[in-house]
Amino acid sequence: MRIVLLTGAGMSAESGIPTFRDALTGLWARFDPQRLATPSAFREDPALVWGWYRWRAARVRQARPNAGHDGIAALETLGHAVTVITQNVDDLHERAGSSRVLHLHGRLLSSRCSDCGARTVPDPIVAAPLPTDDGAREEPPACAHCDGGRLRPDVVWFGEALPDDAWNAAQEAIAACDLLLVVGTSGLVHPAAALPAIALLRGSPVVEINPDATGLSTQADAAWRLPASRGIQRLIALLRGSPRADARELLAKRPS
Ligand code: APR
Repeated sequence: MRIVLLTGAGMSAESGIPTFRDALTGLWARFDPQRLATPSAFREDPALVWGWYRWRAARVRQARPNAGHDGIAALETLGHAVTVITQNVDDLHERAGSSRVLHLHGRLLSSRCSDCGARTVPDPIVAAPLPTDDGAREEPPACAHCDGGRLRPDVVWFGEALPDDAWNAAQEAIAACDLLLVVGTSGLVHPAAALPAIALLRGSPVVEINPDATGLSTQADAAWRLPASRGIQRLIALLRGSPRADARELLAKRPS
């Protein structure tokens, strides 16, 4: 079966990484993430924004993939063609073993020059010394490849375009899938939030896995009010129980 998963911050919540709309802590507590993750914030206060991303990168590197990430990777060993489309900038899907991960909003553990786009190896965003638990302002390093550029996180900020290759591949994967699972996303941020509609319009089964209701819940074929780890385990139990079933037959079964 061609299974596509669209994941959001809730996918990494059980790994201890706060969702995007969780309150921030430490130095950043008085800032709104949606204000920090913008080109204007970086222009106005590059040390605050670079320090925040260095702190987030350190937390991601200390985190571990959870049972949800591991379960998604295990789907491939069950013989299914799996594409993960993620809004997350962490690398937990890759570390769990997923082999096809499309990052719509970029990658936290990577940086590039804000002028020439060049990357620096080893990447300073994950270099020692690691930020303290509360984080601190840090001046972004100057680019070693051009005159005057400074490094910025390799993520998509609000107001910036998504990477064409990931966006086009995501649309193609959903347009050809047998089953779409939407895991741990509030569905508030476009254009990613528009992706499930491609499956719904084609009549492909859509399952939402989220402890809370979202705008997709009433449109999906099933809305499992579960955390990601338990929702993915339910999917695996259904697939193992009926390896030959198609997605609609699977969804008609009572989960064990
Ligand atoms: N398992 C599954 N879902 C969970 C869990 C969990 N353990 N814990 C929380 N959630 C759900 C929340 O109920 C919420 O619906 O995860 C969702 C997280 O929503 P957001 O914090 O809005 O994160 P996300 O949807 O990924 O945001 C999308 O917007 O903020 C920007 O670029 C940022 O990539 C992010 C994008």
